[in-house]
Amino acid sequence: MLVNLKTVLDLAEKGNFAVPAFNVYNMETAMGAVQAAEEMRAPAILQIYPRLFKEEAGYYLSPVVVAAARKATVPICFHLDHGPSELETSRALRWGATGIMLDGSTLPFEENIALTKRVVETCAYTDVQVEGELGHVGTVNGEQMDEFTTPEDAKRFFEETGVACLAVAVGTAHGRYKKPPKLDIERIRAIREATGGKPLVLHGGSGVPDEEIKKGVAAGIRKMNFATDICYAFLDSCLEELQKPDRAIAVDNFMKKPIEAVKEFCKTRILLVGADGKADV
Ligand code: 13P
Repeated sequence: MLVNLKTVLDLAEKGNFAVPAFNVYNMETAMGAVQAAEEMRAPAILQIYPRLFKEEAGYYLSPVVVAAARKATVPICFHLDHGPSELETSRALRWGATGIMLDGSTLPFEENIALTKRVVETCAYTDVQVEGELGHVGTVNGEQMDEFTTPEDAKRFFEETGVACLAVAVGTAHGRYKKPPKLDIERIRAIREATGGKPLVLHGGSGVPDEEIKKGVAAGIRKMNFATDICYAFLDSCLEELQKPDRAIAVDNFMKKPIEAVKEFCKTRILLVGADGKADV
């Protein structure tokens, strides 16, 4: 069933786990992610990068995600990932998103608060909740990772914006790490405490050692993002299929294995974040 961000976050809070948030890029990655959630009886989030909302691709992909979520027998939220402005957040709402991320993390603190608050208010009209970002989670490609989120700022951000959850900078980055990251677990705990136990989000899940992710979830991460590794699961399987002399040529048949590969990858992440069997907590 298609549910809003609050519904899956509430399940995570009640069950002490993190909702896995899978970035999807086409119908096949969406199918793999939803099939994994159904097989594991897990709530999940399917999210789309903001650039797709600026391109035709988002117009086609959004109905696919909505259809997959509606058909699913587990709670699925359709989320905009890293929306930078009201152009993307408005389009995402129009195309059926039930969760919105407004990423104002590169703006000065006060501007981040003002923009996020405005988007929270607009989204509330349609019962859609918002994820904010504070302390910039960059990419693995050379950006400084020294803007860690402070507990005091996080407290103020929650109070003044009304976000449902907050992406925090605690040691991760987007993309493939050159060396495995170590999370600042103490900081996650301190932010949770300062905010009265609000749901926190960890970006850059691909390549984070399993033990680190488990510690992060135990410390209060309630939404855990995976994108790059989904691309690898899908593309590696496509490449493998292409090598086979008897490969299917009809694209729908060819895609069966890559869909399966995405599903199997997502199942491992669902287990890791403790979301298996939590669809009906
Ligand atoms: P990765 O690509 O590193 O898994 O990051 C996912 C993410 O945080 C998307 O916003």
